[in-house]
Amino acid sequence: MAEPDQPSTARMIDYWLGGEHHFPVDVAAAHAFEGAYGPGAAVFRSLRDFLGRSVRSIADAGVDAFLVFGAGVPTRGNVHEVARDATVLYTDVDPVTIRLGQRLLADSDRAGYGFGDATDIGTIDPAQLHRFVPGWGRRPVGVVFLGPAAFLDDDTLARTLDELYEAAAPGSFLAIDFDGEELTAYPEALAMMGPAFRMRPPGAFAPLLGHWEPTADGIVPVAEWRADGTPAPVPDACYGAVATKPAA
Ligand SMILES: C[S@@+](CC[C@H](N)C(=O)[O-])C[C@H]1O[C@@H](n2cnc3c(N)ncnc32)[C@H](O)[C@@H]1O
Repeated sequence: MAEPDQPSTARMIDYWLGGEHHFPVDVAAAHAFEGAYGPGAAVFRSLRDFLGRSVRSIADAGVDAFLVFGAGVPTRGNVHEVARDATVLYTDVDPVTIRLGQRLLADSDRAGYGFGDATDIGTIDPAQLHRFVPGWGRRPVGVVFLGPAAFLDDDTLARTLDELYEAAAPGSFLAIDFDGEELTAYPEALAMMGPAFRMRPPGAFAPLLGHWEPTADGIVPVAEWRADGTPAPVPDACYGAVATKPAA
């Protein structure tokens, strides 16, 4: 892969998770972010741990196909490595991330990677959707939406989640995270997140879910969501939930 001249959050996360799919430009950006916001690495590790626990819970409920938005790099405990019997379609909008994901999954017969704008399911290649999320709209699936909410305004996010609710079959699950207001106190780090980045007070999260029903675990700091033992000691920067479209 040609060395990119711009960092990407997806590869910065790979660096923080101890992965192998990042470049010096990503490491420099990760170090700059940590300089502005000390616990950056720990926060992103706790997010990946939340991905693991939430996806496992959905697979344990019998779901065997996942559609992932804003997927980033498909390694280091990503969805198909957690749900080992499931098929998984990873999607993203960043062409460099998509190419990297396709290369990493080239030998997989149950996980694929393609373009997908989280705000428009119609942008996904129907053949890929059919292959990796068979029965989309007719069979329960897991929709993984970890990352994109922070880059969508309230109206777009609410509309998107409504459309996903309508499209998914009853019995489907949604794993989602939201950014709280932690970075308000770290303006330099906040500026690094770019102009589209949205922080929200925790009270704003639930109404955005529309008809999706959070499980009894609620919408809580990601480290607390079904924590294995004592939650990791990280700031409450990100909140997460698993929500359902109840079986008919
Ligand atoms: C924080 S990063 C990676 C998150 C990834 N889920 C993880 O845990 O490693 C967010 C990703 O969302 C992607 N993204 C941004 N806007 C998007 C959109 N509208 N639709 C889909 N992906 C989007 C970015 O390209 C980026 O790879």
